[in-house]
Amino acid sequence: MRYRSQSVAYWYFAALFGLQLVFGLLSAAKYLGPDPLLDVLPFDVTKAIHTNLLIVWVLTGFMGATYWMVPDESRAELHSTKLAYIQLGLWTAMGVTAVLGYLFGYGTGNKLLEQPLPHKIVIVICMLMFLYNIGMTIKKAGRFTATEGVLLLGLASAAVLYLPALLHYENYVVSIYYRWWTIHLWVEGVWEMIQGGFLAYLLIRLSGADREVMEKWLYVIVGLVFIAGILGTAHHYYWIGVPHYWLPLGGFFSALEPMALVGMAIYAYNAMRRSGLSHPNKLALHWTMGSALFTMFGAGLLGLAHTFPDVNKWTHGTLITAMHGHAAFYGAYAMIVLAMITYALPGMTRRPVEESSIGYWAFWLQLGGMFGMTLSFATAGIAQVYLERILGMGYLDVQLKIQVHFLMLVATASMFSLGVGLFIFDFFRHAPQFNVDEADPVLVPRASGAAL
Ligand code: HEM
Ligand code: HEM
Ligand SMILES: [Fe+2]
Repeated sequence: MRYRSQSVAYWYFAALFGLQLVFGLLSAAKYLGPDPLLDVLPFDVTKAIHTNLLIVWVLTGFMGATYWMVPDESRAELHSTKLAYIQLGLWTAMGVTAVLGYLFGYGTGNKLLEQPLPHKIVIVICMLMFLYNIGMTIKKAGRFTATEGVLLLGLASAAVLYLPALLHYENYVVSIYYRWWTIHLWVEGVWEMIQGGFLAYLLIRLSGADREVMEKWLYVIVGLVFIAGILGTAHHYYWIGVPHYWLPLGGFFSALEPMALVGMAIYAYNAMRRSGLSHPNKLALHWTMGSALFTMFGAGLLGLAHTFPDVNKWTHGTLITAMHGHAAFYGAYAMIVLAMITYALPGMTRRPVEESSIGYWAFWLQLGGMFGMTLSFATAGIAQVYLERILGMGYLDVQLKIQVHFLMLVATASMFSLGVGLFIFDFFRHAPQFNVDEADPVLVPRASGAAL
């Protein structure tokens, strides 16, 4: 750690991943038969809590990672550590009360955006505090890198795109139409900038790759995702009651998105190959490369699998969607946050920079588990589409037929959860230590020893 204020990142990282999984497992268990919790915690509640915890922890991770990265890039202390802690307190209070609210059915019912209005307003306030703190840090430092620029553009745009979610629309079609301005343009637009910013930062630091080259390609790749992603929004407009010209538009532009994601994977792979594996924190490199590759698989390939209207008319809103949702979210946003944590942790704790075997177990169990979960959802989804939508069998009859896939889901999800458990254990295993160290070993690749 080069700057004392980077320590705020630690408290942002120590977050909510585990709790999300508890509610994922609860949701999965309900597919398997009698539900003793039906009156207390029905499926809609566990699923809303599961997905909302996901959004909250990923955003918390983004903020923590930014508080770590910006001082490093701009070579300055954070503008205000105190403000960052006040923001974290407010944010946590918002998250906890939102979950308590969902338990009592207090929410908007708008998938992934269930937060009630007062909570949404607190989210906006937290975002503004965060952007102000980061903006002032950069302004005071007077040094602003392109990598930071992409990251901040992503974060600021994510805040702006949350605004349509603050409004209430009486008409259901209108409400669904604008819902995608937030959800789709987040995950297939501006969050990709955030991922791209972290990815470039990690690759530059871990591989010692040339910053100018890395930043040039970052612009190209992020630009491509963004351009395809904007009109790609139309792949959610197929069946919601808007004019039919959205069908070809959605099919065409969303099919371009995976190309950019393939570009991102090639970008990461090339950076790593050119400089070799000289950095001692190889585990962070695993997470970084893993994120680029798993995004290509989960978002690119499995997104493409159901994005054409001719396919989507069969698969829309089935377990095929859940298959893609898990692999894409995990690869792109969970893994990049885990990469930033793994990179930053030796600088904030007594952990040695070199990898530990627990760290590798955490990585491979999660990866294998998530791959198995994706296959479980996929096999369940294919059977569901065939039996329900092609043969015309009733919804609940089909659910009984596909239960076996949910056994596989619970088994692979348990493996995944073990990996997450180990990650959390590994996180807390070494006591935090916030000493400022000019010759920070985190920053120095083993072979070149070059200052970055
Ligand atoms: C223990 C691990 C997990 C289990 C057992 C699990 C299980 C589930 C289940 C059963 C659903 C409801 C699917 C439906 O609507 O029928 C769901 C939804 C969802 N989960 Fe998970 N999950 C787990 C971990 C994760 C992780 C790590 C992520 C992301 C990083 C994630 C992201 C999502 C998303 C985005 C949805 C909504 C998908 C949709 O509505 O199509 N889950 N999960
Ligand atoms: C990191 C990037 C991505 C993430 C995190 C992601 C996540 C998700 C999630 C959570 C959903 C369910 C949303 C809901 O029903 O509320 C969804 C739906 C969808 N995604 Fe993605 N996605 C990503 C990229 C892509 C890409 C690149 C494509 C196309 C090539 C794609 C195609 C689709 C389609 C067609 C649906 C609608 C499914 C349906 O009709 O039920 N996604 N995505
Ligand atoms: Fe989308």
